[in-house]
Amino acid sequence: MIIRPRRLRVTQAVRDMTAETRLSPSMLVYPVFIREGHGIIEDIPAMPGQKRYSPDTLPRILERAMKCHIGGVLFFGIPEHKDDSGSQAWADDGVIQQAIRTAKREFPDLTVIGDVCLCEYTSHGHCGLIRGGHVENDPTLEVLARVAVSQSEAGADIVAPSAMMDGQTGAIRSWLDASGCNDTLIMSYAVKYASAFYGPFREAAGSAPSFGDRKTYQMDPRNVREAVKEALLDVQEGADIVIVKPGLPYLDVLKTVKGSVNVPVASYSVSGEYSMMKATCANGWLNERNIATEATICLARSGADIIITYYALELSEWMLEGWL
Ligand code: PBG
Repeated sequence: MIIRPRRLRVTQAVRDMTAETRLSPSMLVYPVFIREGHGIIEDIPAMPGQKRYSPDTLPRILERAMKCHIGGVLFFGIPEHKDDSGSQAWADDGVIQQAIRTAKREFPDLTVIGDVCLCEYTSHGHCGLIRGGHVENDPTLEVLARVAVSQSEAGADIVAPSAMMDGQTGAIRSWLDASGCNDTLIMSYAVKYASAFYGPFREAAGSAPSFGDRKTYQMDPRNVREAVKEALLDVQEGADIVIVKPGLPYLDVLKTVKGSVNVPVASYSVSGEYSMMKATCANGWLNERNIATEATICLARSGADIIITYYALELSEWMLEGWL
């Protein structure tokens, strides 16, 4: 007798009913680049299909995000003026603060997440303060906490610290609480590798380091137990959600972290993953809808409760069309 897995003749409806993994627009987060200025909607050459907006043009893309019932948007600010300490990152009228205020005024129900980092705002392009040629962890904590509070006061629902400084989550939580921002959640980039897949993002955000690299504060791709340690520490410090980043090349890390923490886990499918898919599809070598969908499902299957992806809008629209 042959014991069959019963896959041969079932209908698509039965396959859908029994699927082990499901995607929904509410689990997707769309990253948006916001550049200081007016009337800007400009292409990002290394990320075809993605654009930079100024705070006044931002509502156009947010309206599309609202219409497809997306989980949230993640804002990256690109200031006009950079300095040593990244002071525009916590300026009351800084580009990201303007963007958050505009978003919450126009679309109060849209979940807005602010990326908390300094690399887009510092003249040297590093994620922390520089002293004697090195990134200094501890003095940076207060600066990151200021950034988080200013974003929260502008209306951000969630702040997402991505600088990879030790203790940043704890510092931000205590500053938020001391400032009356008790309801603001922290989505911490707890597990962020020193990855070459961030290349297109650094072009998009103008945040490439002017010297050295980020290997002293981002994680070594050879390590996975260290990821568990980082994630547990962040949960202990008050993280409400932890991010593992990048996405596809780190599925094992995602799965391991998911099994180790008791908070939702987000996977960030980063710029290089997006650009690789775009480039190969532009050549006609792969089918864009199919690979973007499969790549995203693989992240969910490996444990992601939330997926941050530059395909978030398209994926949500495909789901609403009933294609996915
Ligand atoms: C740092 C930050 C980076 C990304 C998100 N936050 C870049 C870096 O660490 O150099 C990369 C995201 C992507 O590649 O899509 N603020």
